[in-house]
Amino acid sequence: MATISDSGELLRYNGVARAFHAIIAVMVIFNLASGIGGDAIEDIWNPIPFHKSTGILILFLSIARIGWRLTWVMPEWPSAMGGLQRLVARITHLALYALMLVVPITGWIMSSAGKYPLTIYGLFDWPKLAVTKGSPLAEAAGEGHEVLGFLMAGLVVLHVAAALHHHFVIKDNVLRRML
Ligand code: HEM
Ligand code: HEM
Repeated sequence: MATISDSGELLRYNGVARAFHAIIAVMVIFNLASGIGGDAIEDIWNPIPFHKSTGILILFLSIARIGWRLTWVMPEWPSAMGGLQRLVARITHLALYALMLVVPITGWIMSSAGKYPLTIYGLFDWPKLAVTKGSPLAEAAGEGHEVLGFLMAGLVVLHVAAALHHHFVIKDNVLRRML
């Protein structure tokens, strides 16, 4: 399959995939920003309750997205894309999918050990997992959430830079087919 069909039409990711990508991208970027910058704006607004609710939603949307992803084959990359570039793109996408699951799960475990209740935007309670404060699991989840959260921020920057590079420098269709 080529990026442009024989009739000249742009082959894009399917509509459901594009919708999942856009919604989850906005939510993940909000969570990275509120996680990393939350302390700086805490006096005006504490974003962490919102961060937790959005994170839980990201987890379940990502499970649905990955389930959907297993049912179709992506449109082929432009033929000019080299083998190394394809490998880096594949590894980055796989890592982002993994982090979309593992980062919210570590957050859920860590927050289950905390004293604050878990809710979804204050609308209803969200169950806490059976984790005790100070237990090795709670400690590991806290460490993991921080380290993997920062790794995710780095990969997202790389990913967005690559998309913009395709669009503005290489001038191919890689960005347009995901919009
Ligand atoms: C994809 C979803 C998520 C992303 C990208 C994300 C990212 C981050 C990042 C980068 C930090 C800053 C780490 C630090 O400086 O220690 C953070 C902090 C935090 N996250 Fe998340 N998070 C997500 C989901 C969740 C979920 C689901 C929960 C809980 C239910 C959660 C609870 C927290 C809490 C309580 C903090 C503050 C920790 C502290 O200040 O010690 N996060 N998050
Ligand atoms: C403004 C921000 C973003 C832009 C412009 C963007 C752009 C793109 C583009 C153009 C593709 C298709 C790449 C290709 O076909 O090789 C893509 C795929 C993907 N993006 Fe993003 N992205 C953004 C944010 C994010 C965020 C925040 C995440 C999640 C953490 C994410 C996760 C993914 C994943 C997992 C794929 C692989 C899709 C697949 O083939 O299954 N993106 N993105």
